Amino acid sequence: MAIQWFPGHMHSTRKAIAERLPEIDVVIELLDARLPGSSANPLLAELTAAKPKLKLLNKQDLADPAITALWLDHLQSQAQTQALALDASEAAPAQKLIAACRALVPGRGGMVKPVRVMICGIPNVGKSTLINSLLGQRSAKTGDEPGITKTEQRIALASDFILYDTPGMLWPRLLVPEGGEHLAASGGIGRNAYDDVDVSLALLGRVRPRYADRLATRYKLKDMAAADDEALLTAIGRQRGGLLPGGKVNLQKAAEMAIHDFRSGAWGRITLETPEEFAQWLAAGLAADAQRQVRQASRRAPKPPQRQLDAQADSEPPA
Ligand code: G4P
Repeated sequence: MAIQWFPGHMHSTRKAIAERLPEIDVVIELLDARLPGSSANPLLAELTAAKPKLKLLNKQDLADPAITALWLDHLQSQAQTQALALDASEAAPAQKLIAACRALVPGRGGMVKPVRVMICGIPNVGKSTLINSLLGQRSAKTGDEPGITKTEQRIALASDFILYDTPGMLWPRLLVPEGGEHLAASGGIGRNAYDDVDVSLALLGRVRPRYADRLATRYKLKDMAAADDEALLTAIGRQRGGLLPGGKVNLQKAAEMAIHDFRSGAWGRITLETPEEFAQWLAAGLAADAQRQVRQASRRAPKPPQRQLDAQADSEPPA
């Protein structure tokens, strides 16, 4: 599927993060609990390799709790890493967040050595919402258009605990195609970057094996087991009144409804990937990228001049 990958203000954000990092004790990465692998930023991982990390699986209210537990175990097993699941209904997120960060850097704290934390995440992962609730007031701007830049905010969550906010950031190249589909389905990349029908078909294809019953209930579908994803999308369109004049199903409308229903939780709590699945996709993505780079390098390699080729041909013994 073609995803137009526009990493937006990546370079300026990357520079701002890199400049701030030397004085940061803990990096918080906000992930989407429905797609924790796909919403993790490889560029951030590269920039912050040496730092203690807190991974927050946000929007857990929309994610499958059993798979969230798998991700928490997986992330906790990584070096210098704590992981927590969270959602916007959390009454006092600051306490949890502060305690998890302090546990990562027990040597810091108090007025002389305050804990300095940076919070990062892809656009639309819920960072402004979380910061608003940390602040206890609606002062950070929220919105559903990915790529809105905001200037850095410095927030004192306790007398010895400082949080630096950063703008949402994507990464230079999309290596995992499944990740692109999941980001598009969840709203992590802008609408102009993908085709709704393609994304909804990929989404249905991903969701069906684990949650076919949810789709059947939501759209009152029977005997869809043997149908392909396009037949399923067509059935959804028919059920929900997405029809063109003459009774033909409007697939664009059906796709928009399916994506909207997934995003709003109308299918119930759904996660698109397990740690194991994502590791396989990532390995395949990296292998494909390595091949691509070899092909690119061989295209760029300077060709020997024609004279040298002629000389080689002359010196070869006749067949
Ligand atoms: P960002 O700063 O990371 O770009 O994200 P932002 O806080 O603007 O949140 C993006 C969307 O995600 C918002 O919805 C927000 O309400 C929603 N959201 C944030 N946290 C959670 C959560 O824990 N659970 C759920 N279910 N949703 C969450 P929106 O439709 O774009 O805006 P609005 O309806 O809130 O106005």
